Amino acid sequence: MVKHYHSRLLPLLACLLAVLLYGATTASAAVMSIDYGTEWFKVGLIKPGVPLDVALNRDSKRKTQSVITIRGEERFYGSDAVNLVSGTRYPQNTYYNLKNLLGRLYDDKHCQEYRHRFVNNMIKDSVRGTAVFQHNETAFFTVEELIGFQFAHAKEQAEATAQELVKDVVITIPPYFNQFERQAVLDAAELAGLKVLSLMHDETAVALNYAMNRKFTTEPLNHIFFDMGAGSTVASLVSFSNVVVKEGKRNKTVPQIEVLAVGYDRTLGGYEFDLRLQNYLGKAFEAQKKGQLKQSVFESDKAMAKLLKEASRVKQILSANQDTTSSIEGLHEELDFKTKVTRAELENLSQDLLDRIRGPIDTVLSTANKKV
Ligand SMILES: Nc1ncnc2c1ncn2[C@@H]1O[C@H](COP(=O)(O)OP(=O)(O)O)[C@@H](O)[C@H]1O
Ligand SMILES: [Mg+2]
Repeated sequence: MVKHYHSRLLPLLACLLAVLLYGATTASAAVMSIDYGTEWFKVGLIKPGVPLDVALNRDSKRKTQSVITIRGEERFYGSDAVNLVSGTRYPQNTYYNLKNLLGRLYDDKHCQEYRHRFVNNMIKDSVRGTAVFQHNETAFFTVEELIGFQFAHAKEQAEATAQELVKDVVITIPPYFNQFERQAVLDAAELAGLKVLSLMHDETAVALNYAMNRKFTTEPLNHIFFDMGAGSTVASLVSFSNVVVKEGKRNKTVPQIEVLAVGYDRTLGGYEFDLRLQNYLGKAFEAQKKGQLKQSVFESDKAMAKLLKEASRVKQILSANQDTTSSIEGLHEELDFKTKVTRAELENLSQDLLDRIRGPIDTVLSTANKKV
C-alpha cells in the first residue's frame, strides 16, 4: 500500500537553512516555511539563535489538515474544521483538497472533477474564467483567498512558535507547477500578508534535507527519492558529492547537490485509494441494508463524508495489517454499519493505481539513462 519513505518537515527546515546561509534574507528576523499539501500543510521556522524548528499547531501536531470551514465571520482550520464544525455537519461550508485548483480554469478537468467529488457551489469567475466558490447568498471566495486564509493561519502557528511577528516565507511547490499555478501561490501568500523569499521545488527541499548532517566524498552518490502525497506523486534522482573549490589560496571542499531527473504523476496519491474504499464501503452498506433504505447512501452528503473519513482510517490500518473491521454508528437513516475489509480487497480495488506507482520512477531512470 501507500508507504511514506520521507519526512516532509525536515526538508523544509533544510531549505530555510539554505535560504539563510545563502543570504536571501537578513538573518535578523525569523523566516517560516510552508509545505502546503493536498491534505496536510506543514510549517517550519528558523530564527537567529534557534536554527531549526517545526512550528506545532494548536493540537501540538506537526501537520495540519488543509481544510477550512467558514461559518459567518468565523473561520475554522485543520482538526477544528474537520471535527468540531465541519466534515459531517457542514459539508457545504467546508473546503478540502484545494491545492489542485490553484491557477486553474473552471472548465479544466481538475475543476470539473472537484465539482463532482466535493459538496460545493463552484462557479466561473466571469472575468478570469477561474474557479470561485459561492459560499452563500452574499459571500464568494476564490481559491487563492481560501488558501490565503490557511497561509495566514500557518503564519500564526509560526509566530506562536517564534514568539515574534513573522513575514518572510519559503513555500515548496511541485516540480510540475506552471506559471499560473506559481502565481496563484504567490497571490495566496500576499493575501496572507507574507513576503515570499522563494518558491522551492519539493524535490530540492527533500534533497537538501537528506544532505543535512551527512558527509559525502568526491565520488558522486545517486539516490532516488519517492514522495507520494495525498494528491500527487513525485520521484527524483539526485546526485550528492563533494567538490573542491578554491577559496583564496586554499582549497575547500563543499557539498554539491544536483537533481538529475524528476518524474511525477499529478493525480496519483493516497486520496485516490480513499475514494476507492469509500465506494466499496458504500456498496457494502447498500447490500447489507437492501430494501430498508429510503434514500441511497451515495446520495447523502453526510453519509458520504463519514464514509470517506472511515475509508482513510481503514486504509492506514491495512497498511500494517492484513484485515480490519470498519464500523460506523448511525451511518445513514440511523442505521449502523459494520464490515470486515482485507488488504487483498483494497489492493484489488486499487490495482490500476498500484500499477501507476512505477511510472514516475521509470521516467526518472529513463531521463537519466540509468537502470536499477
Ligand atoms: N500509514 C499510512 N498508510 C497509508 N497511507 C497513509 C498512511 N499515513 C498517511 N497516509 C496517506 O498519506 C497521504 C498524506 O501524505 P502527505 O505527504 O502528508 O500528503 P500531502 O502533502 O499531499 O497533503 C494521505 O492520503 C494519507 O491517507
Ligand atoms: Mg506532501
